[in-house]
Amino acid sequence: MELRGKTILLTGSGSGIGSALATLLAAEGAHVFGLDLRPADSRPGVTTIQADITDARSIDHALAHIDAPIDMLINNAGLMRRGTLFDSTPEEFDALMNVHVKGSWLMLKHTLPRFAPHTTVVQMLSRHALTPPEDPALYALAKICADRMLDFFAQRYPQYAVKRLYPGPTDTPLARHGVKGAALKEKEQRMIAPEALALQIVTLIKEDKTRLEYMEETGEHSIS
Ligand SMILES: NC(=O)c1ccc[n+]([C@@H]2O[C@H](COP(=O)([O-])OP(=O)(O)OC[C@H]3O[C@@H](n4cnc5c(N)ncnc54)[C@H](OP(=O)(O)O)[C@@H]3O)[C@@H](O)[C@H]2O)c1
Repeated sequence: MELRGKTILLTGSGSGIGSALATLLAAEGAHVFGLDLRPADSRPGVTTIQADITDARSIDHALAHIDAPIDMLINNAGLMRRGTLFDSTPEEFDALMNVHVKGSWLMLKHTLPRFAPHTTVVQMLSRHALTPPEDPALYALAKICADRMLDFFAQRYPQYAVKRLYPGPTDTPLARHGVKGAALKEKEQRMIAPEALALQIVTLIKEDKTRLEYMEETGEHSIS
């Protein structure tokens, strides 16, 4: 896929993987519109817009800044709350489901009328959606729900391409959230830089592949 001139809407562009991805997509010549709670400064090729993806009115306000049909929606924004299934609070449940499920659903619902004829939807999931861990259980559950929602979407709108990302540990504030001491030191050995993951995501998009998956055995990502 040629990215030059494409209009790409990317959520969670102010930090971590989203920020690295925005920079790379812009370098490929795409017009990136980055939505975030606290957007980073605009960069060449990246227009940042303050938006809360859990709020329909906030999304509509952000979309009013975009004139062109949307060629690609990248649902990337997210947050982390750690805990086992029942060692988690209702507030944590709501926070995770709100951003990962409701936020992704609202973004699809509100951008669909603005899609170009062959729009691509890229959904950020996690390795935890494929192999649910004991902890973070509710984070994994939210990612599984978002993954299944994409099944509904793909079935109803087969004209649009759907790409799913199941990455492993990547060094961002989200990955470090709630990890301390020896556990953090051990995790630091396994995390890759967000720029490295973003590079693989851009490769996936350009090569018309549909799935990026972390392989526990090798610590690498496969693209297929
Ligand atoms: N890092 C990893 O190891 C890893 C692995 C697999 C999958 N992922 C997924 O990758 C995605 C990006 O995460 P990251 O690791 O890059 O984390 P990050 O650096 O914390 O970036 C997440 C971004 O999403 C924004 N965001 C959160 N809630 C939002 C909302 N309601 N509306 C708009 N923006 C919102 C955050 O804003 P604030 O900072 O203002 O809250 C932040 O800028 C997430 O979906 C995450 O689940 C990450």
